[in-house]
Amino acid sequence: MHSLFLILLLLSQVISGQVQSPFSGLENQQRAPKSAYPEPIKIIDGPVHVRDPTLVYDAKGQQYIVMSTGNELLYLSSPNLTGPYVQAGSVLGNASLISSSYNPWAPDVTLIDGKFYVYYCVSRFGTQDSTIGLAISSSGEESSFHDLGGLFSTEHGNISNALDPHLVPGGEYLSYGSYFGGIYLAKLNSLTSIDQSSLPGIKIADGFPFPNAIEGSFIFHRKPWYYLFLSEGQCCGFNQHELPEDNTTE
Ligand SMILES: *[C@@H]1O[C@H](CO)[C@@H](O)[C@H](O)[C@H]1NC(C)=O
Ligand SMILES: *[C@@H]1O[C@H](CO)[C@@H](O)[C@H](O)[C@H]1NC(C)=O
Ligand SMILES: *[C@@H]1O[C@H](CO)[C@@H](O)[C@H](O)[C@H]1NC(C)=O
Repeated sequence: MHSLFLILLLLSQVISGQVQSPFSGLENQQRAPKSAYPEPIKIIDGPVHVRDPTLVYDAKGQQYIVMSTGNELLYLSSPNLTGPYVQAGSVLGNASLISSSYNPWAPDVTLIDGKFYVYYCVSRFGTQDSTIGLAISSSGEESSFHDLGGLFSTEHGNISNALDPHLVPGGEYLSYGSYFGGIYLAKLNSLTSIDQSSLPGIKIADGFPFPNAIEGSFIFHRKPWYYLFLSEGQCCGFNQHELPEDNTTE
């Protein structure tokens, strides 16, 4: 499969309520040549596989923390952004309150007012039987996270999939979605509660048909724009020589 890549979208209109087709005009965006970007740095060595990583700087502990899919959400740390990171345990410690049969995936960590919020999901691979949950900690230390369990769920028949949560800067929305239906913004009542009446939320990016489905949304804010990153494609056989380049959109 050749088309696993990141797409950059301009989202401020969507977030302010003027929903447009998020892909219109994308083909006209200027893209820098591949040569303009440095090679990625390898920051984790050894036998640890880090999938769906999320990273936060813990100023008190003077360390960078990486969390990822794996066991009860892998927890790695390093005093240096560029690593090396060592595995220090897991975020949840025990099975998620959502399910003891399925592992939690795709953590998303944000530090707000001294508290660490880790949104994550639990799902059955290839289905919409999915739940987005939350664990919080006031120190960020391994084993210090308190699991609050599920915030909301999807099942067969829903148009979205409660997977790959991400807290949108500003704390008012959680972006989420994988394959089924694309990427959505679910409204938060507070950092620990979803506005259930607003579900499935605002659709911000359309799911492509297989094998080019989208998932793994990540949004950052740099005024005046919100930028959405996501991944497109399907396992397996990623070819790094076939990344999009210049004005190519595929
Ligand atoms: C962090 O890593 C960089 C790059 O390897 C290195 O130059 C620097 O000395 C490291 N800093 C610390 C505090 O280890
Ligand atoms: C894990 O579960 C055990 C038994 O229910 C409990 O005593 C322990 O505090 C839990 N640990 C965490 C990190 O939640
Ligand atoms: C899934 O469908 C149920 C039943 O219609 C609904 O109550 C729930 O809010 C839906 N979930 C989402 C995330 O849309």
